[in-house]
Amino acid sequence: MSSYECINLTIDGDVATIQFNRPEKKNCMSPTLHNNVRNALVEVEKARVKVLVITGIKDAFCAGMDLEQCFFEPFDDPQRMAAINDDVFTWFQHLKKFPAVTIAKVNGWCFGGGMELAGICDIAIVADESTWGLSEVNFGIFPGGGTSWAYAHNIPSRKKALYYGLTGETFTGKQAEEIGYATKSVPLAQLDAETDRVVKMLSRLGRTVLRKTKEVYEKVKWMDFEAAVDYEMAKLWELSRETNDDWIRTALASFKRREFKPGTQSYKLTKDV
Ligand code: COA
Repeated sequence: MSSYECINLTIDGDVATIQFNRPEKKNCMSPTLHNNVRNALVEVEKARVKVLVITGIKDAFCAGMDLEQCFFEPFDDPQRMAAINDDVFTWFQHLKKFPAVTIAKVNGWCFGGGMELAGICDIAIVADESTWGLSEVNFGIFPGGGTSWAYAHNIPSRKKALYYGLTGETFTGKQAEEIGYATKSVPLAQLDAETDRVVKMLSRLGRTVLRKTKEVYEKVKWMDFEAAVDYEMAKLWELSRETNDDWIRTALASFKRREFKPGTQSYKLTKDV
């Protein structure tokens, strides 16, 4: 496993964790941090983990882009800005289609690009006490670089979404759950335990079914019903082939023997599928 200047990366069996580590700058994303995450995601994908947790050290999840190092300082050097943006958008897009399940564990300050990061992840488990905001309007721009996409896709109510986009007013992790941005919010003292519980639940499942569940959800969201049915059936048979029909030969064979109740339990994996 490589070591990085601005993040801590751990890979432990089926689970990887990337922890942003710029506490003195509230874990905002500098060019070096972007480059670190770009490379770490490639490393994590190669490790074939099932779950990737992204979090921040100390009192911040991520205070967004480093406004000095990513915007103010390189502004008059277009090539430098392009190089920074190449790292930024390569890893954002990689994360969006990442094969493992991605969990944002939001432990504290979460602004701008930090909200984009939480919005790109599949699941967000957040501290009640965390503070969120689309602060871009406060420095004269709209949420850019995918942040508008992220809040438009994670806050279902147009009235709520535009309210936060237009005013920059902060909200808590508890409110993030209420408006749909967070999967669930828990007291900060329980954040690690709750995240671990969800990670364990996911780790018990096969990597192929996790990956395809994500893929199918993302695609069918934009299809009409008829196309979705066809697509889902095609992907089901693809999954079946890729896992040597494990859902029939292991899972449903086990159910036939009444060894588990699929409503409340998952079948026991006997091979890495
Ligand atoms: N870019 C650059 N530097 C940042 C930063 C960012 N996004 N967020 C925090 N920092 C820096 C602060 O400028 C400060 O640096 P300094 O010690 O050199 O003065 C340091 O991190 C600590 O932050 P500070 O403001 O002293 O902490 P705080 O607890 O009083 O406030 C925040 C925390 C998050 C409310 C405040 O830092 C802030 O408003 N950050 C900007 C958030 C933002 O608008 N992000 C959107 C970017 S897309």
